[in-house]
Amino acid sequence: MELDYIKSMFDAIAPRYDFLNRLLSLRQDVSWRRQMIRAIEMPANGILLDVACGTGDVILEALKQKALSAAYGLDFAPEMLMIARKKIAGAKPPAPVCLLAANGLRLPFAADSIDALTIAFGIRIIIDRKAALAGFREVLKPGGMLAVLELNTPPPGFLRRLYLLYFEKILPGIGGLFSNNMDAYQYLPASVLNFPPPKVFARMMQDAGFTSVAWKSLTFGIATVYIGCK
Ligand SMILES: C[S@@+](CC[C@H](N)C(=O)[O-])C[C@H]1O[C@@H](n2cnc3c(N)ncnc32)[C@H](O)[C@@H]1O
Repeated sequence: MELDYIKSMFDAIAPRYDFLNRLLSLRQDVSWRRQMIRAIEMPANGILLDVACGTGDVILEALKQKALSAAYGLDFAPEMLMIARKKIAGAKPPAPVCLLAANGLRLPFAADSIDALTIAFGIRIIIDRKAALAGFREVLKPGGMLAVLELNTPPPGFLRRLYLLYFEKILPGIGGLFSNNMDAYQYLPASVLNFPPPKVFARMMQDAGFTSVAWKSLTFGIATVYIGCK
């Protein structure tokens, strides 16, 4: 039930998703994805899987930065995937890209088959993070890398208060107005506030068996990139 609600919410906001991402983050989202891909070490001509790929921005960035033999994008919202498909076709990708409508908790990939797995702004939406991380680890090749990009709230202080004012009071209004979906832009800040602080999520990655786990705060702690190896 919960999954159906989230899926239809993303389907509903898909046409305005990119526009609102750029507007609400003042284009920081573009730079954050760039930094996440930059943090990935993977062999040339490796295979990348982007879970919760949405409208395809992570895949497009990965194709710019890395020499890939194939890229897979997986998301359960068909309308988000439709936009990803158009953007990727327009970018004339240098490597084959395959988009799959599936649940990130049940990855349709063989064990030990992926060189790098990414998930941007998606892990906080997956309630069973423990199971998700276990599934990610399973499909990665030994030595493969997981990169997670997620929003956080800045540490306590003036900046946090200012950020929360924007995030809880202003963002839902702008998001609701442009997307015509008030619920979605109320749900999104709430899901960020419920996501654990970087130290705690990094520990979850370690507990799931990832090694060399590290994280880096971006833009005053509004977003964080985490990496870990299988
Ligand atoms: C905030 S968007 C992020 C999209 C994209 N990664 C980006 O960088 O903009 C979250 C995406 O996660 C997808 N999603 C959430 N839970 C999922 C799940 N269990 N399986 C597959 N996709 C999921 C949603 O459909 C949505 O497209």
